[in-house]
Amino acid sequence: MDRQQHIPVLCDEVLDFLKPQPDGVYVDGTVGLGGHSYAILKASAPDGYVIGIDLDPDALAIAKEKLHTFGDRHCLINGNFAEMPVLLKECSIYAVDGVLLDLGVSSLQLDTPHRGFSFNHPGPLDMRMGSGHELNTNQEIPPTAMQVVNHSSMDTLVDIFKRYGEERFARRIAARILETRQQIPITTTTHFAEIVKSAVPQKTSKIHPATRVFQALRIHVNRELENLEIGLDAVISLLKPGGRLCVIAFHSLEDRIVKRRFQMCAKTCICPPKSPVCICEHKSSLQILTKRPIVPDASVVQHNPRARSAKLRVARKL
Ligand SMILES: C[S@@+](CC[C@H](N)C(=O)[O-])C[C@H]1O[C@@H](n2cnc3c(N)ncnc32)[C@H](O)[C@@H]1O
Repeated sequence: MDRQQHIPVLCDEVLDFLKPQPDGVYVDGTVGLGGHSYAILKASAPDGYVIGIDLDPDALAIAKEKLHTFGDRHCLINGNFAEMPVLLKECSIYAVDGVLLDLGVSSLQLDTPHRGFSFNHPGPLDMRMGSGHELNTNQEIPPTAMQVVNHSSMDTLVDIFKRYGEERFARRIAARILETRQQIPITTTTHFAEIVKSAVPQKTSKIHPATRVFQALRIHVNRELENLEIGLDAVISLLKPGGRLCVIAFHSLEDRIVKRRFQMCAKTCICPPKSPVCICEHKSSLQILTKRPIVPDASVVQHNPRARSAKLRVARKL
């Protein structure tokens, strides 16, 4: 991948909502290759500050190169945005003016064969965004996709493929995996994709038959939905009044979590509707700034096909 060509998704729209200010402090919770952070630092010149967080040390190395011209106006942290309060406390930051979460996988991860994210590239079936050593809490070290595929029970595999991939042939695929691994371990992306392809009826969809299963495994390995749930609460607790949260989701499972969390926080209290008394600790709430999610123009998608499923939602802390 040409890193100079990296186009951050919905970047102008993020800047319009985030409104970076010269004295503002912003967190890019998924700094990736640094595209959005670069734009935020530029827009908040001369002294706006950005803390960039990512699970992936390889991405951070590239972001470091890209952002070095901004000198000490930024810092980069190898960590999980779900642990944002702990990470920021280490930098003595307790409240921020804006946060961006541009969720999911980066083009660097997808295009690097040895990371094992893509059925288009032969590589080991890995799919971990981070090694787990960046975690502060006692979360478990993530398993590789290879471990999940070779050691999970039939029911667990079916659950992963259905829950995170909405895969209708989940049981057939899981059965074929169990059959195969009795003969030989499944260790590569291409072997795994072939197994999935052989288990599903041909030509039922326009997309590659392994697309949904790869997505499901990746979400499971990286605990993406759990991190998002925890991360949204963490971010909301860190925003100053008037501070803004922008979230870009790439599939309906993520977008649903963001939409529901925003809706709950837009009410003054986030207790479950049936709670007899208020038990939530969120005394403050959000104003939703995007009635409907913002999506990229057709012309943008033409130049950057990976942007096609992006949905941006924005809320403001009251
Ligand atoms: C779509 S990319 C972000 C691209 C970035 N906005 C840019 O302009 O280059 C998503 C990034 O989020 C990271 N990521 C995913 N989940 C994360 C988490 N829970 N904590 C920190 N980083 C995470 C991935 O490693 C990946 O680098």
